[in-house]
Amino acid sequence: MKGIILAGGTGSRLFPSTLACSKQMLTVYDKPMIYYPLSILMLAGIREILIISTPRDIPGFKELFGDGKQLGLDISYKIQEQPKGLAEAFIIGEEFIGRDSVCMILGDNLFYGNSLSAAVQRAAKLTDGAVLFLYHVDNPSDYGVATIDSNGAVTEIEEKPINPKSRYAVTGLYFYDNDIVNIAKSVTPSKRGELEITSVNNEYIKRGKVRAEFLNRGNAWLDTGTHKTMLEASMFIQAIESRQGLYIACIEEIAFRQGFINKEQLIALGQKMKNSDYGQYLLRLAEGDGV
Ligand code: DAU
Repeated sequence: MKGIILAGGTGSRLFPSTLACSKQMLTVYDKPMIYYPLSILMLAGIREILIISTPRDIPGFKELFGDGKQLGLDISYKIQEQPKGLAEAFIIGEEFIGRDSVCMILGDNLFYGNSLSAAVQRAAKLTDGAVLFLYHVDNPSDYGVATIDSNGAVTEIEEKPINPKSRYAVTGLYFYDNDIVNIAKSVTPSKRGELEITSVNNEYIKRGKVRAEFLNRGNAWLDTGTHKTMLEASMFIQAIESRQGLYIACIEEIAFRQGFINKEQLIALGQKMKNSDYGQYLLRLAEGDGV
């Protein structure tokens, strides 16, 4: 299974903060936003990752992650010239996907929870169809919303409906088999001119090939759409990290615990950042603290 992080767009709802830098590069408490979705791919065991972003922002991501080797990953990059829709990622990523299945996560989606690692590891075993992650929200109209039948199966997804048929939002974490590339190529742009991920998902539903994972209330799917929700997300992360002394979405820690890198590599990453609490945390981990 390959992984795509879609981290483009204009971030216009966060202007002026995103006038000159990528939304996904903004800080959520103590690390760049993109660390959070990257951590989910790593927890799923996915190591070949394509980051798609704007011509302006790709250089910044390259500076941040390079080729990913320091994390035991293989990270490559592609440009999306214009934000023409989430499903365009699979057309841009066609060569990268090759004959594999693929997981896409949006660069501004933050997940946290106990059952999450197991759920994404299960989904990463997919070879046929699609797995979508659903989350109960107070404001379904802001998202893709799933219609669910009495057996818990998804029968339709509506994009930002005025009268939502459920409170289950489709989160920005999607697992697909290799058909995704052809399906993405076959969907027609929506009224707003975008290749909608919801059109792709409805095609999988039509084929009877969607499995829904319900992220229960023990999980957090945090909103980063506005400055207010970004601050709330930061405070959420800060509360848990301060209480436990364990970091959320610490990609270096995950790389170490997953066996992608060894202790010496972890120490080298910690040394580079030793003036920050984050770097000190990595050095403590390497000494065996918090294991
Ligand atoms: O976050 C989950 C939601 O994401 C889903 O429930 C919706 O079904 C899905 O359409 C999407 O809705 P959004 O309103 O959040 O989409 P938005 O256009 O804001 O794009 C989401 C992120 O992807 C955002 O950080 C910008 C980036 N993006 C967006 C587009 C359209 C790109 O990188 N390229 C694009 O072409």
